[in-house]
Amino acid sequence: MARSSDSYICQSCGAAYGKWAGRCEACGQWNTIELEQTEAAPSGSHSAKSSGKGKAIDLVSLKGELSEEPRISTGNMEFDRAAGGGLVPGSALLIGGDPGVGKSTLLLQVAAGLAKGGSRVAYISGEEAVAQIRLRASRLGLADAPVHLASATALKDILATLKTAKPDVVIMDSIQTLWSDTLPAAPGTVTQVRTCAQELVRFAKQTDTVMLLVGHVTKDGQIAGPRVVEHMVDAVLYFESEAGRSFRILRAVKNRFGAAHEIGVFDMTGAGLREVSNPSELFLSENDGTISGSAVFAGIEGTRPVLVEIQALVSQSSLGAPRRAVVGWDSARLSMLLAVLDTRCGLDFGRHDVFLNVAGGLRINEPAADLAAAAALVSSLTDIALPRDTAVFGEVGLSGSIRPVPQADARLKEAAKLGFSRALTPTKLKSRDLKLNSFAGLDDFVRWVRQSA
Ligand code: TYD
Ligand code: MG
Repeated sequence: MARSSDSYICQSCGAAYGKWAGRCEACGQWNTIELEQTEAAPSGSHSAKSSGKGKAIDLVSLKGELSEEPRISTGNMEFDRAAGGGLVPGSALLIGGDPGVGKSTLLLQVAAGLAKGGSRVAYISGEEAVAQIRLRASRLGLADAPVHLASATALKDILATLKTAKPDVVIMDSIQTLWSDTLPAAPGTVTQVRTCAQELVRFAKQTDTVMLLVGHVTKDGQIAGPRVVEHMVDAVLYFESEAGRSFRILRAVKNRFGAAHEIGVFDMTGAGLREVSNPSELFLSENDGTISGSAVFAGIEGTRPVLVEIQALVSQSSLGAPRRAVVGWDSARLSMLLAVLDTRCGLDFGRHDVFLNVAGGLRINEPAADLAAAAALVSSLTDIALPRDTAVFGEVGLSGSIRPVPQADARLKEAAKLGFSRALTPTKLKSRDLKLNSFAGLDDFVRWVRQSA
């Protein structure tokens, strides 16, 4: 038996092994397994000592007094939206993102908003000194917000402070800097992050405090170590940016108290993050309707309709295997769509290089974007511009059929609201505001594009 229970722990997913291995079998990552001194078994697991009978707990009925606590609004509409409509007392949220994406800026703004709304907010940073946070706050014009600041990394001190200060909302920036002196492992290791997060989440539940935990993501897109934390918290929000772009998307990937996949959109300016309440403005280019190879997709991000331009460039290829490059969409989906267009509609993409780009740096995952991508591709191949002010959506099947998609009404309404006059859609839809061209098959659609020249 090993003296203290040292284990080899994957720094990416937290899986524990008895001996070192080059590759983690649980998550498939290479070179992530490191020796950690975990001391006693982590709290929550059964230790040999707890062999007593245990104490009976009260089981209560489902019916009972409702303590309907309203969600706490942060005063930041986009943050509230991503969090599922505000913060639920007693919940814990993880906000992950690459270093430098703007997590601290966002949370400082959120903290100030909450404090101005009357909540007691504690902003604890393990990365910056109080003076630095003050400096940032004054640059953001938030210096007068009554936020309680602290710079600390020792879990014991933080918990002791929180117990006396009794804030409504705690922001911990970041969990990777925390350490508990009950563990010999270094700060930032899986063992430390897991234990500290567990303690803070428990504190949140016991005291009805909202706990916002900031976590850094590693280069390969995983929250370093604390993927284990994802399971402990009630909601996981990722703060994302596209290289070279000033806008940021806060995306809910998990939410026990609201819709997952909800997004909040921000713009990083010299004076902090500006809320973008109408994201379509970012994702539509100034296309005056005379350029071929462009189509506007009426999409849904989370629960919100977003219009985004899809651009295609199709050019004669000099290569044996023509090039396919896609940004913001699935390349397998593009291959499928090209095969359907060639086979079912008699087009000739096989001898062309194809480039597809989703404007604004958004990433689309919906199958509903098929028809819009097809529209951009066909438009570029035939050099026929689609009619201006036209929005497109619909899923394309392998047979070349165009299938209905969810939330068609919301898509049409958003398009009408933004001044679009026509929509290309699957069949059986009605709209009072837009002229609809509905298609049952992709071949009909291609014929229609050719005729509209
Ligand atoms: P920060 O919030 O420190 O990122 P994180 O906490 O995720 O590591 O953001 C740092 C970046 O944001 C930095 O590159 C500068 C930029 N920034 C602005 O562009 N405008 C601002 O008003 C602020 C405060 C930061
Ligand atoms: Mg930071």
